[in-house]
Amino acid sequence: MSFFDNIWPGITQSSHWPIEGSLDELNHRLDEFDGIVVAIGNNQVRAERLLELEARGAKLATLIHPSAQISRYATLGPGTVVFANVVINVDATLGKGVIINTGATVDHDCRLDDFVHISPGANLAGNVSVGTHSWVGIGAVVRQGTVIGSDVTVGACAAVVSDIPPGSCVVGVPARPRARG
Ligand SMILES: CC(C)(COP(=O)(O)OP(=O)(O)OC[C@H]1O[C@@H](n2cnc3c(N)ncnc32)[C@H](O)[C@@H]1OP(=O)(O)O)[C@@H](O)C(=O)NCCC(=O)NCCS
Repeated sequence: MSFFDNIWPGITQSSHWPIEGSLDELNHRLDEFDGIVVAIGNNQVRAERLLELEARGAKLATLIHPSAQISRYATLGPGTVVFANVVINVDATLGKGVIINTGATVDHDCRLDDFVHISPGANLAGNVSVGTHSWVGIGAVVRQGTVIGSDVTVGACAAVVSDIPPGSCVVGVPARPRARG
């Protein structure tokens, strides 16, 4: 496994692994790798980087932790990363560059568009839709059949019980648009 980051050469180590160079360096070495994922939590930034790499011919990998339980009838897009103890149920469809973080559950027939991030411990009930670039915060729960638009932020521990329009940020139980100061 190799890491590339634009913080190089200022920082040359990411946790236990060496950073081998900047993204420019990676762009020159794309042929060396069987698959690439973009490990950036911010959905917009991850989308930009991943689409850029794909346009340059990078092969996108799908990373799945061995402890994740994924239905054989679920579909995962390229560049998607599934963390430990995730459950993804039957007929769920995930787009490109999605992150399903530690211990989250995505139930039957859910549809997650490209570059969605479901944070640790969040639970999506059956038949939930989540639009492009949306972020569901840690420990949030989403009622079955709910439609969450694109570019939405669902705050930590929120309970989403009705559809959320694109571009909003909702928090609380039940989830409501966050008051702006
Ligand atoms: C919703 C969220 C994005 C807002 O972030 P922010 O814009 O920086 O908001 P602030 O921390 O400045 O808080 C603004 C107000 O909203 C409230 N608030 C923030 N997040 C809240 C939440 N999840 N639930 C309820 N209220 C929340 C704060 O208490 C504060 O209220 P106040 O103005 O009455 O003091 C963020 O708090 C959040 O929940 N992020 C998810 C984090 C997460 O999932 N991390 C896992 C990453 S893998």
